[in-house]
Amino acid sequence: LEKKAETAIREAADLDQLKDLRVKYLGKKGELTTILRGMKDLSPEERPVVGGLANEIRTGLERWIGNKEEELKKAALTTRLEAEALDVTLPAAPPSLGAVHPISAVIEQIEDIFIGMGFEVAEGPEVESDYYNFEALNLPKEHPARDMQDSFYITPEILLRTHTSPVQVRTMEAKEGQVPVKIICPGKVYRRDDDDATHSHQFHQVEGLVIDRGIAMSELHGILAGFAEKMFGMKLETRLRPSYFPFTEPSVEMDISCIQCGGEGCRMCKNTGWIEILGAGMVHPRVLEGAGYDSERYTGFAFGMGPDRIALLKYGIDDIRHFYTNDVKFLRQFQSL
Ligand code: PHE
Repeated sequence: LEKKAETAIREAADLDQLKDLRVKYLGKKGELTTILRGMKDLSPEERPVVGGLANEIRTGLERWIGNKEEELKKAALTTRLEAEALDVTLPAAPPSLGAVHPISAVIEQIEDIFIGMGFEVAEGPEVESDYYNFEALNLPKEHPARDMQDSFYITPEILLRTHTSPVQVRTMEAKEGQVPVKIICPGKVYRRDDDDATHSHQFHQVEGLVIDRGIAMSELHGILAGFAEKMFGMKLETRLRPSYFPFTEPSVEMDISCIQCGGEGCRMCKNTGWIEILGAGMVHPRVLEGAGYDSERYTGFAFGMGPDRIALLKYGIDDIRHFYTNDVKFLRQFQSL
């Protein structure tokens, strides 16, 4: 019995089998217990001998089972540790990074370039009064040029600004006739346009305003040509074409030689070799006077450009709606900006 039990215990494969063996040999109905129970049939001389032997075997078996139990528990722990092992040297899954929106990147670049030329960055409200958006910019009510910019009116006197030019007037008023004025103002503007590949009812502008003694058209051209080369990172030709804005006189639009074909003619410049990038002009004396500046002593120039359009040109994007529909696959392309 002892030999058989020892072998069985040694070969027990897991804790369950070991438990069965304990019941089999040492349990209430176990083999050893049966022997002990049978002792009442033995003679008084045999009893202590058999009893002693049986107890010895029981102690022995209990020790064997105890040892085996420990061994099996250790083995089970090792297996579990191996199964749950963590390799701390494995590279982690990369976190998904956000990206600067291409329009934000272009606006920041525009700001950097103008700050580098001594400009300050100003801000103004997107919900604007008719006075600042039109009236003070030499656009009285019923002026036909108001139709150039279809507006979202909130009340007859309040609207979403259609351009950043009202900040020209707000800046001049805040400066109380002092010079020099040298600011840019980036921001959102709103027009009642149907959205398509080149129009959006909400887009961005960066306004610029310079006022001082003796500011002439040549300063306007010099600063804006310098800006364009820095913005597109290459040597460019620029040209000023006559245009019309009620708040500047004379008014111009500035073209750059096509950054795609260099002026040869391609799809981007519609085979003209030129691309329009901004509107500008000498601040109209009536605007200067209205905002408290002596137009006999001071002159200035102003300009307005569209970062959306500049981003389209710079990155060769064919549809402005990409900027506003937040397709992550589109935006991820600008992760390095
Ligand atoms: N505000 C004009 C527009 O939105 C642009 C502009 C700004 C033109 C400043 C001249 C001077 O079209």
